[in-house]
Amino acid sequence: MDLKGKSVVVGVCGGIATYKVVEVVSRLKKMGAEVDVIMTANAQKFVTPLTFRSLSHRPVVTDMFNDPEYWDIKHISLAKKADLFIVAPATANIIGKLAAGIADDMLSTTLVATKAPVLIVPAMNHDMYANAVVQRNIEMLRGLGYMFMEPDTGRMAEGTSGKGRLPEPSSIVERACSILCPKQDLKGIRMVVTAGPTRENIDPVRYLSNYSSGKMGYAVARAASERGADVVLISGPVEIECPEGVQLIRTTTADEMHEAVLSSFENCDVLVMAAAVADYRPAEVSEFKIKKTDDDMVLRLVKNPDILKKLGTMKGSKTLIGFSAETDNLMENAAKKLEAKNLDMIVANDVTLEGAGFGTDTNIIKIIRRDGSITDLPLMSKLEAAHRILDEFCDMVAKD
Ligand code: PMT
Repeated sequence: MDLKGKSVVVGVCGGIATYKVVEVVSRLKKMGAEVDVIMTANAQKFVTPLTFRSLSHRPVVTDMFNDPEYWDIKHISLAKKADLFIVAPATANIIGKLAAGIADDMLSTTLVATKAPVLIVPAMNHDMYANAVVQRNIEMLRGLGYMFMEPDTGRMAEGTSGKGRLPEPSSIVERACSILCPKQDLKGIRMVVTAGPTRENIDPVRYLSNYSSGKMGYAVARAASERGADVVLISGPVEIECPEGVQLIRTTTADEMHEAVLSSFENCDVLVMAAAVADYRPAEVSEFKIKKTDDDMVLRLVKNPDILKKLGTMKGSKTLIGFSAETDNLMENAAKKLEAKNLDMIVANDVTLEGAGFGTDTNIIKIIRRDGSITDLPLMSKLEAAHRILDEFCDMVAKD
């Protein structure tokens, strides 16, 4: 892969795995990226700045107050120029500092200043990694959009075994490449994605709806478009901007969404239904505002069409991916919906969990395929979750 024109800032912390990051820098440089390295004071005890300087052909930043080699405010200029910021090995210390917003050296200061995507690659003793505070910090940062790689499991430097080893340099570089140059593995695929709630009118001033913000569906549309798919996004009423390159069809009621999905379905290869479609609507919509009386009021509801179920009966060779929003018996209910709606995959989310479901920027999902396989994912941003759903789709198609 050609990384020419891409700027990668690598923040190196103090840990025995520091030597492996030398190879990461070397590989990125060979692929054409401009690589700037920031080392903490402890990192310099494991590997010298000269090693990184020789490989990156760039001055290595070690101190906020050194005489500058060129005149700029380095923590700001590096924060701005980065297309990607990698922290490896990421110690419990830097993860904790970032989670707390602490900026007390060059690396932590630049991290707080950057708007670039940040990939954190933890490596530490397995008991430290398992520590509840470290795990809480990781979850919190994931929720804010920071990306993490899982450490490898195996023999640690101190002789014990566990989860905490830095992943292989090739895996880190592969992940960096997929962030810098998103793969085009959905080129030629026509995808319809639904998002957001539906609104079912009661009268001109009132409606029934739910808490869907559209974030999950919009993330799927954005991720698919970035990966080369032609995407039609059929959206309920939400406050999110349409991702670039995506064709947007706005709808309000379940009936409107039903119609829009039906008319786009014939020309698509994949349908992803992330929308929270109301199952019922008022039997009658009053032309005028309903007046308050002294009595209680009964609102009679009639069933809305089950869009996905209907399409399940006419899907042919198309792929249908549904979502299942549950408050109890997550897997059982999701599996039933997969079967009843004749889906190829269903994304189950327990909307009672913190950071999951309606309105949040993150989700915790389990992906169930028709063959019964389950991919259980931790809390992550909705965009990352969207990419994982699309990875599953690509894998499923490749195996067919
Ligand atoms: O929008 P966000 O705030 O980001 O929240 C995301 C989400 C929680 C809405 C999303 O992750 C999610 O779970 N979407 C599906 C919600 C839902 O309606 O689930 P369900 O279990 O009731 O429906 C199962 C599937 O059938 C869904 O794919 C749904 O789109 C579809 N359906 C449901 C009812 C209906 N009448 N027609 C349908 O097609």
